[in-house]
Parts: sequence; C-alpha cells; structure tokens
Amino acid sequence: MTGPVTGPVGGPVGGQQGAYLVTGATGRLGEATVRLLAERGDRLVLTGRNAERLAELRKSWAATSRVEVLEVDVTEPAGAQHAAAEAARLIGPLTGMVHLIGTFSAGPLMLTDAAEFEDLIRANYLSAVVATQAVLPHLGRGGRLVYFTTPLTGEPLAALSGYAASKAALVTWMRSIAHEVKRRGIHANAVSLTIADTPEMRRERPGIDLDHTVSPELVARAVGFLTSPAADGIYGGIIPVLGKFSYSSALAGPPPGITGPPPGAGGPGREAP
Ligand SMILES: NC(=O)c1ccc[n+]([C@@H]2O[C@H](COP(=O)([O-])OP(=O)(O)OC[C@H]3O[C@@H](n4cnc5c(N)ncnc54)[C@H](OP(=O)(O)O)[C@@H]3O)[C@@H](O)[C@H]2O)c1
Repeated sequence: MTGPVTGPVGGPVGGQQGAYLVTGATGRLGEATVRLLAERGDRLVLTGRNAERLAELRKSWAATSRVEVLEVDVTEPAGAQHAAAEAARLIGPLTGMVHLIGTFSAGPLMLTDAAEFEDLIRANYLSAVVATQAVLPHLGRGGRLVYFTTPLTGEPLAALSGYAASKAALVTWMRSIAHEVKRRGIHANAVSLTIADTPEMRRERPGIDLDHTVSPELVARAVGFLTSPAADGIYGGIIPVLGKFSYSSALAGPPPGITGPPPGAGGPGREAP
C-alpha cells in the first residue's frame, strides 16, 4: 500500500515547481542551494541580515524573476512572521522552507561564556523553531522543511560542546515535529554535513584535509532530493553528506584501506596499496 500523496512539491520528478522560503541565504551554503532550486524552476524568497549580499544574490537571478530577497532577522518571531507572509504574497502558497540559518563557535568549557552557548542555541535551534512556526500556516497540504546539522551531534568532540549540543537540540526537535506535521503531508528532514569546502573555509583553515570536507553543491543536491518527490517516504530523516570524513582513534588504528597515523596525529594517512 502506498502512503498518502503529499501534494505538489517542486523538483525534477514532480512536474509542478515549488515555492520556498530560504532563510539565511546570505551564508556559505546559500549560493549553491539557491542555484539548485532556482535552476530547477522553483520560486524563492531569500532572507538574510546582510543587505549587500542579498542584493548580489537578487542581481544574479534577476533574469529569471524567480528569486526575491528580504532583509529580515528570521530569528525573531515578528521577523519570521513577516518573512513567511511576504514570501507567500510574493511567490504564492509556499511549498516549504530551507532553513540555512546557523552559526559555529568552539572553545573549551571553562573558557566559554554562557552568552556564547545562548548565541549557539538561538541561531542553531530556536531560529528553526521560530521560522517553522511562522511558515507552517502558509503551507497547504504537503510541504518540505529542510534543516542543517552536523555529525558532531552523534559523536561530539572536545571543545565543541556548545555547537554540538545546539545542533543536537535542533535534530531532536526536528524529529519530533516531523511526527506532528506528517499528518498534513509535510516532511521535516535535515542534512548532516562535515565542513563545507568554501573559499572562506580554505582561508580560515589552511592545510585542512579536503577529503573530509564536502562541496556546497553536494549539500545542495541533498536539499534538492529532500524537496523532491524522490523523498516522499522520508519524514524526520537525517541525510549524511560527509564526504570521506570518518572518525579515527589511536585505539582503533586507521580506517580500513589507510596506513599511517590518523589525520591530526602526526600527518595524513596514506591509502593502502
Ligand atoms: N558550512 C559548514 O561547514 C557547515 C557544517 C555543518 C553544518 N552547517 C550548517 O548548515 C547551515 C548553513 O551553513 P552556512 O555555512 O551557510 O552558514 P553560515 O554561512 O555561517 O550562515 C548561514 C546564515 O545564518 C545567518 N545567521 C547566523 N547567525 C545568525 C543569527 N544569530 N541571527 C540571524 N541570522 C544568523 C547568517 O546571516 P549573516 O550572513 O547575516 O551572518 C547566514 O545568512 C547552518 O545551519 C550551519 O550550521 C554548516
């Protein structure tokens, strides 16, 4: 027996195009995500706090008239409600939201102020709550909600407690609300990624093992999948886009097929012949 038909959702298989609110589109993953959705014909309203970056994004899509931008802070309930209402007015009934808002910081517990933990919780978790509450009334029957997380929620590392905990909150919350909204044919899912390989990241972390990063285009493809009929059966899922990243430990030795010390423990491992 097949499940309920979830209504029109944009994508390469569905025929009918989608209308998405893309929150936090001014960030590192924004461009690739917007490109994938706009090129397949979806109409988008992009939000952000950076007016200059929003103007650039709008300009690069001006020829298609598929992309509108809105300078607004979606982490505040009033801003989120304004963004969702404007998006519905500009591009019609929404088919979903791609929630890119998030932030990162690291530091040992005893050197990290409580305010930094609050910032992480606000940007990584509460922003999703507030934006989702705003957008749900504008979805009909059927829709897609996509969030972004990290493998650190399952295996947190030292000095990343605030970041990992804020994303763990997001993921647990997402899996719970996925059960609430699925009755309306709405799919809430997340993409889990390691570190996106962007020019900013390469500047910040010279010498990083690029095999453990992922291209924004591959992350965008996972968004494309989750917002397509190919994901009709997935509710509350976490899609890993981890590249060749894997945890290693001196106890376990290098992963199969790799010789030498694990990355970060004296030099990169070498592929076994
Ligand atoms: N990039 C990665 O390596 C990576 C890895 C794992 C997970 N993720 C997650 O994937 C999502 C997108 O990543 P990204 O690299 O595109 O993120 P990003 O560049 O750091 O930021 C994405 C957006 O979030 C907004 N934002 C951050 N803090 C905010 C706050 N306190 N209030 C309002 N807006 C705020 C940024 O606005 P401004 O431009 O105004 O700052 C930007 O529009 C995020 O949830 C991130 O945590 C990313």
